[in-house]
Amino acid sequence: MNLTVNYIQGKTDGFKPEIGIILGSGLGDFADDFKSVIIPYSEIPGFENSQVQGHKGQLVFAKIHGKNVVMMQGRYHFYEGYSMQTVTYPVKIMKKLGIKTLIITNAAGAVNENFTPGDLMFITDHINFMGTNPLIGKNDDTLGTRFPDMSEIYSKDLIKKASQIADKLQIHYKKGVYAATTGPSYETPAEIKMFRLLGASAVGMSTAPEAIVANYCGLKVLGISCLTNYAAGVTENALNHQEVIDTANKVKENFKTLLSEIIKQM
Ligand code: HPA
Repeated sequence: MNLTVNYIQGKTDGFKPEIGIILGSGLGDFADDFKSVIIPYSEIPGFENSQVQGHKGQLVFAKIHGKNVVMMQGRYHFYEGYSMQTVTYPVKIMKKLGIKTLIITNAAGAVNENFTPGDLMFITDHINFMGTNPLIGKNDDTLGTRFPDMSEIYSKDLIKKASQIADKLQIHYKKGVYAATTGPSYETPAEIKMFRLLGASAVGMSTAPEAIVANYCGLKVLGISCLTNYAAGVTENALNHQEVIDTANKVKENFKTLLSEIIKQM
């Protein structure tokens, strides 16, 4: 970990980020708007080279509204075959670089039948249905404790703040529980029905591992889902990745405005 941190600090001239942002599918170009230092994951010792449609795979460092921010343009997914260690390693590194808050974004399917594609959803909690946990293995006591509490992974305080900002900007939002699956196959209608019965409002293939590790490290977490499609079985339609990208693209401007304002008022 020291090797990674030292490498990044060498490249960024001692820049100390206070906020970390993981940019999900279709939302990555938020980072393009800011003057910055860019480091591709492939160059960072300890990082692996991420490749998935709609993702870039680089760290972007920028000052936004006077705040030092590090952004992940693209993330590692468990479904790509990466270990949970690889998926969550960047969160640990951002923590070591000095961030106090992590904003995690993603694209997700709408499980709640009252939610519609294009909605933004503040994540109030999650159900980790990935069948594993990113903290399995020897504990690193410099980061957190062996059995960390998870009763408030997603900061109520940040949700409140973000909601007020969205209200002011007249950007519609929902709040709800995110169910995390491994993917890469989309869920079956029966699985979506199950998630709905369990209290989930959205479903996706990321976020839970990073959020668990962030909370374990003592970071405040804000999770925002862009609901890109109705989850399986909500309508008669089949699901496809293009729809996810297309909806994320449509919501992008609102999303960027919201994110920017949240950073400003953090
Ligand atoms: N299911 C799982 N992951 C997703 C979906 C979905 O419907 N949409 C975007 N990511």
